[in-house]
Amino acid sequence: MNTREMFAKAIKGGYAIPAFNFNNMEQLQAIIKASAETKSPVILQVSKGARNYANQTLLRYMAQGAVEYAKELGWEHPQICLHLDHGDSFELCKSCVDFGFSSVMIDASHLPYEENIALTKKVVDYAHQYDVTVEAELGVLAGVEDEVSSAVSHYTKPEEVVDFATRTGCDSLAISIGTSHGAYKFTPEQCTRDPKTGKLVPPPLAFDVLDAIMEQLPGFPIVLHGSSSVPQEYVDMINQYGGKLPDAVGIPEEQLRKASKSAVCKINIDSDSRLAFTAAVRKVFAEKPGEFDPRKYCGPARDLMEELYKHKIINVLGSDGKAE
Ligand code: G3H
Ligand code: 13P
Ligand code: ZN
Repeated sequence: MNTREMFAKAIKGGYAIPAFNFNNMEQLQAIIKASAETKSPVILQVSKGARNYANQTLLRYMAQGAVEYAKELGWEHPQICLHLDHGDSFELCKSCVDFGFSSVMIDASHLPYEENIALTKKVVDYAHQYDVTVEAELGVLAGVEDEVSSAVSHYTKPEEVVDFATRTGCDSLAISIGTSHGAYKFTPEQCTRDPKTGKLVPPPLAFDVLDAIMEQLPGFPIVLHGSSSVPQEYVDMINQYGGKLPDAVGIPEEQLRKASKSAVCKINIDSDSRLAFTAAVRKVFAEKPGEFDPRKYCGPARDLMEELYKHKIINVLGSDGKAE
């Protein structure tokens, strides 16, 4: 399904839909098991990098298989959307629309304003002919947005959102209020330190900017990218078993919980799943150096990701039970 009804219900209900990236079978199984068990609507995201890694045909049919798998797990009416994450050209978006995706993102946020509008509108005009919903982005996140790199973030300007949404016809808007991609969202200099634990405390999200955007566009679906929390337990596990992730820091879950209750109705999480996967694999390798059957380390990785996804759904986004 596309995102239209999902978002309308999420805004009314004060929760957010999880948008989880997937690149392989174990991630997809974990996402579907967690969603089926909690009866949460879910967005399966495919990035350009995922297409290059796993092949777009395979990913598209894996997503179709996932719907059948969800039913097999006892989820009678699965609510699953297949979404292109960070599409960077009309051609890429078109190929996903033509190929059966139910939603696409055109990320032209790095372009000058008028060019962002023109490209986004071109994608919207095409996608809407097939009832495919379109996410656009205004403002620039710090960190790496696929192949577009930005060292600093530029918050979305609330005074631009009405003009942008009206002229492009986009269905949802990704905004910049201080989230960022990856496991290193903030430099130690941008953070303070908790005197008790010595751990980094990131700067708060700009809720004033979010409020101003919601005032301009009441009831319009807002999306947050870069919303992994970088759970300390996974970072510790990775470091304990031979990894090296010093000072990794994410977005505190309370802030995402707060955002979920507002017009923020899609929250993107990728890095946390990568961390869970890596932590579990490292543990098996450290504890059982003789193990060489991939199922013996991808299995535990899948279990840990499933636990993570359920936690996000139930305790952070509040989307459990919304797709009975
Ligand atoms: O926003 C980016 C996502 O985390 C996807 O990352 O391009 O490495 O697949 P990727
Ligand atoms: P994280 O890197 O915080 O998981 O963000 C993922 C994302 O925004 C995918 O589009
Ligand atoms: Zn993103």
